[in-house]
Amino acid sequence: MEQEQILGLLGADFPWRDRLRLFFSIDSTNNAAKSLAVQGAPHGTVLIADRQTGGRGRMGRSFQSPPGMGVYLSALLRPMCPPQQLMHLTCAIGVAMCDAVQAAAGFRPQIKWINDLVYGGHKLGGILVELGLGPNGLADYAVAGIGINCNQKAEDFPPELREVAASLSMFAPQRVDRCRLAAEMMRSLENISRRFLPDKGAIMAQYRQDCMTIGQQISLLQGGQCFHGQALDIDDEGALLVRLDSGELRTVNSGEASVRGMYGYV
Ligand code: BTN
Repeated sequence: MEQEQILGLLGADFPWRDRLRLFFSIDSTNNAAKSLAVQGAPHGTVLIADRQTGGRGRMGRSFQSPPGMGVYLSALLRPMCPPQQLMHLTCAIGVAMCDAVQAAAGFRPQIKWINDLVYGGHKLGGILVELGLGPNGLADYAVAGIGINCNQKAEDFPPELREVAASLSMFAPQRVDRCRLAAEMMRSLENISRRFLPDKGAIMAQYRQDCMTIGQQISLLQGGQCFHGQALDIDDEGALLVRLDSGELRTVNSGEASVRGMYGYV
């Protein structure tokens, strides 16, 4: 991937164009973005790596990030608000990434609550948002990390991921260019970074449309225990409303739970 190519696609007036950094290999773009945040890097700093040696996902999972195959990107945001107002940020980034994939690959993926991009029952990528707090109790920064599988064929995934993972090129009508995808991701991130607070209601309404978890029978892993039930809805903070098989209604925050379909990954 070439910096000049990405910037060329974004155009001369793209507000973040002087804040893009490309890496050949890095442990994790989220780790690097957090270090830069602490050193005072500005809102809109974007890091993209060709490969990650320690790519991370939610709940302490790893994210496979082989060279030449995906886009691994972290954007540093400085939202300057109390962290309680950022509960829906992962959802907003999810909607933005559906927009970006639609523009670059010609189809709109869905979202598995809360942060997985999916299509045809397979995981295309994921989102990891990490917050840093300032001394005043406001958010000092939010790092939005996104990994999207772009060019892999089924045999490129390790055997243990083959059932679950897929790439954009498996579903796209034509070849997906990683620079084009990276540019669309940056464009969508810049747009959502301005809209996610004032347009919260509309963005969460779009999230509900994109999220395939609503209405599903799910198993819920929470506090080391597994529960079964039906996902009913998602509130404006991104919490999942579930009717457990016991009849209990439970509101589940993303920080404390993960969800799977009853018969597999979705
Ligand atoms: C998940 O699947 O739970 C989230 C995966 C997030 C992966 C991206 S790749 C770029 C950024 N750097 C990381 O280490 N993680 C995120």
